[in-house]
Amino acid sequence: MSLNYQDRIPNNVDLGSNRTLQRALEHWQPEFLNWWRDLGPTDFQVSDVYLRTATSVDTKGWATYGYVRMPEYRWGIFLAEPQADRRIGFGDNYGQEIWQQIPGEHRATLRRLIVTQGDTEPASVEQQRLLGHTAPSLYDMRNIFQVNVEEGRHLWAMVYLLHAYFGRDGREEAEELLERHSGDANKPRILGTFNEPIRDWLSFFMFTYFTDRDGKFQLKSLAESSFDPLARTCKFMLTEEAHHMFVGDTGISRVVKRCLEVMKELGTEDPEAVRKAGAIDLPTIQKYLNFWFSSSLDLFGGDTSSNAASYFASGLKGRPDEARFEDHVALNQTFTLELPDGQGGVKSEQIPMRNAMNEVTRSAYVRDCEIGLKRWNRRIENAGYAQRMSLPSTRFRRSIGSWAGVPTDTTGTPISREEFSARLGEWLPTDADRAFIYSLMKGVREQGKMAGWIAPPDRGINNQPVEYEYVLLHS
Ligand SMILES: [Fe+2]
Ligand SMILES: [Fe+2]
Repeated sequence: MSLNYQDRIPNNVDLGSNRTLQRALEHWQPEFLNWWRDLGPTDFQVSDVYLRTATSVDTKGWATYGYVRMPEYRWGIFLAEPQADRRIGFGDNYGQEIWQQIPGEHRATLRRLIVTQGDTEPASVEQQRLLGHTAPSLYDMRNIFQVNVEEGRHLWAMVYLLHAYFGRDGREEAEELLERHSGDANKPRILGTFNEPIRDWLSFFMFTYFTDRDGKFQLKSLAESSFDPLARTCKFMLTEEAHHMFVGDTGISRVVKRCLEVMKELGTEDPEAVRKAGAIDLPTIQKYLNFWFSSSLDLFGGDTSSNAASYFASGLKGRPDEARFEDHVALNQTFTLELPDGQGGVKSEQIPMRNAMNEVTRSAYVRDCEIGLKRWNRRIENAGYAQRMSLPSTRFRRSIGSWAGVPTDTTGTPISREEFSARLGEWLPTDADRAFIYSLMKGVREQGKMAGWIAPPDRGINNQPVEYEYVLLHS
């Protein structure tokens, strides 16, 4: 079905045929806009931003680009095309018919899953709301606003499901999605990482690389769901999500590139010298990476989880790329976990595969994270330096799961609590590191100019040159 842009709410779900639903969503729309105005990007609401908007849901050419004022962005409801003869792909009901309505017994659980996913979308917009001011270029400013409006659309995606399939409970949940706020003492966002403030662009790039990638894997798991509208919604969200990770990946790569240029110019690898020259040294980049990677790992939940087992059994949430697994029932398989033995060592334990689904997803995520690392390290290697960046162990600095609160070094070797505290400043950004990063955060507004701590991108957006006027500031 083609997208309908005539309606107040653009959609490809034939919203006009369901007046009650349409009216309920039209009632929610101004509340969303109020939220955007109050907690979306500060200022820049009258700037014309070169944004892409979805105009079809097929994989080729779904986006159109043009100048849009953010509050006028056409947030809408887009589901991927239905897949003919799609069957339940995993769990106890493997091979049976998919659901177009929610079986009563799964209502509460599915609502929780949808709300938890939905809550992260506006949360990230709130976390990033001040960053437009310190954008290192107009290109980057445009990118963050693109990410922000699409996270807003992802909220719409989840709110549509809540309104369409969960009656009054769903409508109440949709209201609450606008009432919880990132970092709010009384009504925080549901997941910890989404309450961490993002005050600088290095953190923003780490967030879009590591935390949006968690989003990718959650969406991949939900795209397998037996509840077909959820699966189709998540499938389309994934196409938008890819750009968010591109922003993170290339952002970190450009920071590394700039650091290497400065090292070359100065003829030294000394981090202090690199900083004095206004670039970010590799050890500091590594510390920010350690922080955001470990924080994002917690989003996958406990390594052994009866909830995850029951989501899988009942067909609500699968494994990412479920088709790639041989056994879609996973009843008689086991998974080996490495756990702290309580005496400063490590022990192995076999658990039923279904209980290890979070860990299976987390492992796929870690492998995906490695890809960027390889690319950044190749850059460093090609520049002729021996330093390398790496992902810390999945045991390091965890707050959820078997390794929660267990002190280890970044290789995952258990160490004493004293050593852990003493060495934390080697591994995570210190107050001084953060102060240094903030000191670099000065907005650059001239066309084609970049802040001194980041290299220009290899190419612009949608075949436009890097120096294109991606944001018309009207100031
Ligand atoms: Fe999202
Ligand atoms: Fe995202």
